[in-house]
Amino acid sequence: MIFYKNNIFCLSTTNTSYVIRIDETKHVLLEYYGNKINEQVSFEALFNKWSFGVGSSIINDKSLSKSASLDLLTLEVSTPGKGDYNSPSLILKNKNGYVYDFLFEKYEINKNPKKLMHLPSPFDMDEELVIFLQDKGSKISLELHYVLSLQSDVISRNIVIKNTSKDDVNILKAMSMELTINNNDYEVINLYGGWSGECKKEISPIKHGTLINDSKNGSSSNRHNPFFMVKNKEATLNYGEVLAFNLVYSGNHYESIERNFVDQVRIETGISPYCFDYLLKVGEVFETPFEVMTYSNNGINGASQNMHNFINNHIVNKNFKNIERPILVNNWEATTFDFNENKLLKIAKIASNCGIELFVLDDGWFKGRDNDNAGLGDYEVNKKKLPHGLDGLAKRINKLGMKFGLWFEPEMVNADSDLYRAHPDYIVKHPDFVPSEGRNQFCLDLTKKEVQDYIILNVNNVISSANISYVKWDYNRPISDFYIDNGKSGEFFYRYILGLYRILKEITIKNKDVLFEGCSSGGNRFDLGMLCYFPQTWASDNTDALERNYIQSGLYLGYPLSTIGAHVSDAPSHSVLRNTPFDTRFNVASFGDLGYELDLTDCSPIEIKAIKEQVKFYKEHRKLLQYGNFYQFSFMEKENHSEWMVLSNDKKEAIIGYFNGLQKINPSVTFLTGEDFNDDWTYKITVRHQEHNLKEFGGFINTQTSVHLNPQGLLLNEISKRKTMSGETETYTVSGSMLNSRAIKLKQEWSGTGFDDSVRLLGDFGSRLYYIKKV
Ligand code: GLA
Repeated sequence: MIFYKNNIFCLSTTNTSYVIRIDETKHVLLEYYGNKINEQVSFEALFNKWSFGVGSSIINDKSLSKSASLDLLTLEVSTPGKGDYNSPSLILKNKNGYVYDFLFEKYEINKNPKKLMHLPSPFDMDEELVIFLQDKGSKISLELHYVLSLQSDVISRNIVIKNTSKDDVNILKAMSMELTINNNDYEVINLYGGWSGECKKEISPIKHGTLINDSKNGSSSNRHNPFFMVKNKEATLNYGEVLAFNLVYSGNHYESIERNFVDQVRIETGISPYCFDYLLKVGEVFETPFEVMTYSNNGINGASQNMHNFINNHIVNKNFKNIERPILVNNWEATTFDFNENKLLKIAKIASNCGIELFVLDDGWFKGRDNDNAGLGDYEVNKKKLPHGLDGLAKRINKLGMKFGLWFEPEMVNADSDLYRAHPDYIVKHPDFVPSEGRNQFCLDLTKKEVQDYIILNVNNVISSANISYVKWDYNRPISDFYIDNGKSGEFFYRYILGLYRILKEITIKNKDVLFEGCSSGGNRFDLGMLCYFPQTWASDNTDALERNYIQSGLYLGYPLSTIGAHVSDAPSHSVLRNTPFDTRFNVASFGDLGYELDLTDCSPIEIKAIKEQVKFYKEHRKLLQYGNFYQFSFMEKENHSEWMVLSNDKKEAIIGYFNGLQKINPSVTFLTGEDFNDDWTYKITVRHQEHNLKEFGGFINTQTSVHLNPQGLLLNEISKRKTMSGETETYTVSGSMLNSRAIKLKQEWSGTGFDDSVRLLGDFGSRLYYIKKV
């Protein structure tokens, strides 16, 4: 709800309020952001009260106020040159230089918030406030947009610049959001990483100076995800003040957090100013992407849940809103480029037998693509591998009762391809340099309309050539050699993303029933812009269960489970050569969109049986696992174990995952942690049954069997493919208050002294899922 009175705007969502004031100098200030407040009382108590400038501060306009120094005001937008020496969120340059001062003109409240023209926007939002400003000198116009989602406690913000002046102007920096708050022992959590090690959590204090989280490689990147949190130092997973932010944009982004000399914290977010210089001609309009922000007093989980709720209801491609995602099998880790129709069908048959619903053919299906040196850019099927074409393969897969999906990498081209031979002019290149390759490929120049058209036409043609239900859209190298002629290279990164969004929009509109999964060598482009078109994203090429625990736990801070592609793969993991239990690989992947990515033809009968049980469990609880309210109770990297929970909206059922790090000797008592259950209800807890591989026991097995087995021997190896040792059964009937009070103690953990049904054997990286249902 948006309330206006006497130059004050109070923007209230279900649990939060954001109070903006237009001061006597007509600057737009933030006076409060936090728990919801009553709009009926006077707001004056909330104001930042600066009666005198501090030291030699610059007074903006003495005729209007003797004390208003922009350096101290909690500005909603700031520019250089009029006494604000904190980082400006808007830098423009025209023939008269860099000095601007935007002042309030009028406002508008819209019940039906408008969408952006060229960039993706949140949909089904409740209400919008637009504040119109004008620069005193040049007469350039500026709009500050605030769009509310009441139920998810999210405000989306952006700015729009209109060149209503008489001269062209260059935009050098245009942040979507500026937010200045008084420091309350804040620290920042951001997600950093690299290939196969995405989204690692990092917590840093906010010191005096500026902390920057950004990307410069052309995409939102795996280096620094655009999502971040600002939290009070004392705030925990479930209690305390946490703000969270994310940008609806897939290109270079920039988030700066500056603490100044009077301990104000200014947060800015938006398109990165790195190599950015956009010429806005007279009469033209420039839109910045939406930044979304939320505030919660319920700790990290509270802010994460707000973001999850918002993304599921206002971001993810509407055609897939709250739709359950299929369980897939992908052939990449099983075969890489080395496959033929026969091999694929063998995998598919086993998959179908296990209950898997979708078969995804990964890289290598088109002409010339036997390794990563050739073929990208061409869309003709390799008939040697697939004699019946995609259509023939899709039909055979469909006959097995599964849907068929396909991998693409449409934004790229290999030098060894028909496309490159015909159109060397289609790639991103600089006239003074030989273009640099990455993974033996060039980036297509999406700033060019003819290139966009080529991709749209060819991807659409392939999709309509067979019964394709799913597309994995890959993007496997960062941009180099960026260039646009006539001195417009400063617009390259932005225009690339506009080109990309045009392509994604056209292709997803034409193929509205096709489920798209974004991928960029794993999670190099995991962001809200992509999710507006592609409902899910492949989180990482690293499918080792421990590494995935770190990666997914980072992602969960900002992204809902329904958006995270998570697969069970081989062990030792191809990424780190680590062995983790088969069930743990499933237990981790089940907190996301489940898939299998291993050679099923190599699986033992025991593993196939386990897959069948896993698939059955996942199908039974899919809605909960993909769309339940998500909680983390501990972080693996901090505590050598982690606990994740999904709780249904009606609080009638939940799943808690317990994940062990390294096995400890003399383990302590383990509690089952819960939160937000109905105190007065009775619940039944049941552990998902797991079997132990005999090889886990090594020589210890001989204390349990009558015949002696050599732990390294062939016999144990063979038996272990067919026989297992049963894991514990564990069931309790409890009250919701017991679950909420961390009162439930689980069976004794393996202590090296004995093993039967009363022992929970976890071992290194072992895990369990507990299903909890209202009785
Ligand atoms: C990227 C993806 C992988 C796979 C390969 C195929 O690395 O992340 O999942 O699709 O490309 O080349």
